[in-house]
Amino acid sequence: MTLERELVDIVGRDQVLTDPGLRAPYESDWTRRWSGSARAVVRPADTGQVAAVLRSCATYGAPVVTQGGNTGLVGGSVPRCTGQVVLSTARLQRLQSGDHAVVAGAGVTIGRLQVHARAIGLAYGVDLASRDTATVGGTVATDAGGIRVVRYGRTRAQVRGLEVVLADGSLLSDLERPGGADAGPDLLGLFVGSEGAFGVVTAARLRLVPRPPPGTTVLVGCPDVDAARALVPADGVRAAELMTGDGIDLVCRTTGLRRPLRRTWPVVLLLETDQVPDLPDDADAVVDARVWELRERHTEAIATLGVVHKLDVALPLHQLATFLADLPALVAPHRAVLFGHLAVGGLHVNVVGPAAGDETVDRAVLERVAALGGSIAAEHGFGIAKSGLMHLVRSREEIDLLRRVKHALDPAGQLNPGVLVP
Ligand code: FAD
Ligand code: MLT
Ligand code: ZN
Repeated sequence: MTLERELVDIVGRDQVLTDPGLRAPYESDWTRRWSGSARAVVRPADTGQVAAVLRSCATYGAPVVTQGGNTGLVGGSVPRCTGQVVLSTARLQRLQSGDHAVVAGAGVTIGRLQVHARAIGLAYGVDLASRDTATVGGTVATDAGGIRVVRYGRTRAQVRGLEVVLADGSLLSDLERPGGADAGPDLLGLFVGSEGAFGVVTAARLRLVPRPPPGTTVLVGCPDVDAARALVPADGVRAAELMTGDGIDLVCRTTGLRRPLRRTWPVVLLLETDQVPDLPDDADAVVDARVWELRERHTEAIATLGVVHKLDVALPLHQLATFLADLPALVAPHRAVLFGHLAVGGLHVNVVGPAAGDETVDRAVLERVAALGGSIAAEHGFGIAKSGLMHLVRSREEIDLLRRVKHALDPAGQLNPGVLVP
């Protein structure tokens, strides 16, 4: 008996991919910066099969990387070590409504979840441009943020229960326990943000929120980031996204979209609010919800420039201007294309140009962010990209505790080796 044979017995021949051509889409990450060769890609249909697959992989000592939509941007979703098995959650598609909540299988995409919520007059609080591919399991595992964090929080704030399978095949669940019904530590909460390193999330109970009435979306040119910050109202904000004139020009060049403002501004604010926001009479602005396409097309537009070093950071709001002033010297001789989630200090610093394996710019930018009291992994996770830099933002004691938790949950180090845990 071989592992492949055992996996076929568990999930069926069609759900074990060993042919290189069939494996290929699962072996490179979205940024094309990380790729590897999988021993096999296996696609279990339900929680029981996930548990059986993990037990078999443990028996044969095969490392496992769990993969949802493979839209992750820090190298955490693809095989890297010899003999690694990709466990795809694509077939975990359960979707059951509850009271202002839904139980969703790990493989359900955020887009499908949003359609389901809309059909019952509600909404799901997390939204991101990768919604049609990113999955419930992946967004729980990375504690994904997105464009609505300012209003509803990150994925963690939506989670009301999880079902998880550990590396040894044991099952943990608090799906049926009404959220917050009893005392004691939130053990299942450990798996939010664990990036596939602690266990496989097979389902989540997620809160749904009342569907908001149409808001107002405006795009405004600003001379600098503090002028943009000053336009964000104290309340009623649904989204406040930052772009730059350069970034918008790049998006318009690659997509054919029309430049929206009268001139090119250093900073452009996209604001979605409950009420029409107060703007200066002479503001260079457009009120039109269609400007969201300009924001959502940034990632793909930047990817046309080459392999992107995506530095997903967050700064204290009062430090944004300082960081932006420092940035050109930190990324020289390359240039950065910037955009982000202004309301929460989130910035995506995209740098194209460093040679493969050259992390000089990454380190310079992330060290500066940490020195300014910011986060070096704001919403995409640490993955492979930043697990080695965690000491910039976590104490030695925290990293030691992270290692001990990892060892307690995955003593053989079988799940996503090298991801998250330095
Ligand atoms: P994958 O890429 O498959 O995996 C991501 C990580 O989670 C890996 O470490 C993987 O091992 C682990 N994992 C996946 N499924 C499970 C599971 N069931 N159990 C345990 N571990 C699991 N991210 C944001 O936060 N905000 C954004 O606004 C945003 N916008 C994006 C826009 C574009 C165009 C793209 C390409 C990406 C964007 N992302 C964004 C990044 C990405 O969509 C998120 O990180 C998302 O959470 C990944 O989900 P996924 O299902 O693709 O996970
Ligand atoms: C976004 O905000 O669109 C994402 O985080 C994707 C990215 O950073 O490219
Ligand atoms: Zn983002």
